[in-house]
Amino acid sequence: MKINKEQQDMLDGLDGKAVQKALQILVALGKIYHAEELIPVTSVQVAGVSYDNLGEAGLEFLTEMANNGGKARVLTTLNPAGVDVENWVKLGISEDFASNQIRVIEVFKRMNVITTCSCTPYFIGNVPHFGEHIAWSESSAVCYANSVLGARSNREGGPSALAAAITGLTPAYGYHLDSSRQPTLTVDIKTNMKENTDFGALGKVLSKYFINSGKKPIPYIRGISQISNDQLKSFCASIATYCGTALFHMPGITPEANLFDAPIETITISQSEIDDTIDSLNDALIEDVDFISLGCPHLSLQEIIRIAELLKGKKVKKEFWITTARPIKQISDKMGYTRIIEEAGVMFAADTCCVVAPIKGRFNVLLTDSAKACYYAYAKNNFHTIFKPFDQVISEATR
Ligand code: F3S
Repeated sequence: MKINKEQQDMLDGLDGKAVQKALQILVALGKIYHAEELIPVTSVQVAGVSYDNLGEAGLEFLTEMANNGGKARVLTTLNPAGVDVENWVKLGISEDFASNQIRVIEVFKRMNVITTCSCTPYFIGNVPHFGEHIAWSESSAVCYANSVLGARSNREGGPSALAAAITGLTPAYGYHLDSSRQPTLTVDIKTNMKENTDFGALGKVLSKYFINSGKKPIPYIRGISQISNDQLKSFCASIATYCGTALFHMPGITPEANLFDAPIETITISQSEIDDTIDSLNDALIEDVDFISLGCPHLSLQEIIRIAELLKGKKVKKEFWITTARPIKQISDKMGYTRIIEEAGVMFAADTCCVVAPIKGRFNVLLTDSAKACYYAYAKNNFHTIFKPFDQVISEATR
């Protein structure tokens, strides 16, 4: 891999120990993936923020980087943490866990990382434009950045994203290269996709084809004439979770699709496959629901407005969290939506989500509109799930 003079100085420790360590991580990664060079990034998003994942060993690594002078050189935000730093008591998180989580966030702050913890950085000012090279970690956000924004990111691990933040560099391989962005499978949608749940189910339907073929194609998805930004957000989370996909193209919707012809290899998706998949994510009885959550990925402002409209003057009957980025909640506070939603008995969980918060053992059945939340509710917390469209989740909550 070519290393220029400035990068060699970093490797030699002239910019301090944290920069040296960070560049060593990136060079090692670049060698594994046969990158020819390191390229500048303009934006970073770091995952692996929850104390649950990091533990003391992870926190020690971060503290060492901070003590050695590590500072983000480009705009860097964080993925959700294990707690809402302002509302953890009400959400039933232990003091012990909360104080450890806050230690993690404080270390990131010392490194000039913006400690807004969200998986939708593109809603809160971390918005790369078309063609920009970035280093993001959260799988749904990486898929959104590559596919919807046309930016270029591999799916970084926590340490490589932090290394990119501290050096402003990333190895040029994978989705940074034109040659890795070409679609390899045409997906013809032969059904009318309307709800978040349809797009969530589509990711799981595609996983069957991907697993059976043993390939990891870049899909070129035809037959979708209209899709909202929130539905794109849902689909990115689902296809990233179930298929490991970090880039897809949708003609007429995503910005790079018109650069390519449809690949010859084609599969067709029918309504019955979507319906069967939705059924498979409903593995409990609605009367057994004891936890409801919306906001995976984190809610947009439009979604919060919709929740307020639907809940005005009503009361929910079960524990209900809505998860979002704190700046989005602050707008909601200012506009009066938070008051309407909280008066209905719903709790805001900013900075965190129903997957990364330490809630294993507290609930049995989760009601959600998110296919990704269904996957992790079971895989991480052993919850059963009820998977319903957004508006229906709210009507069930008040029934
Ligand atoms: Fe975001 Fe948590 Fe879902 S990080 S994508 S809300 S699992």
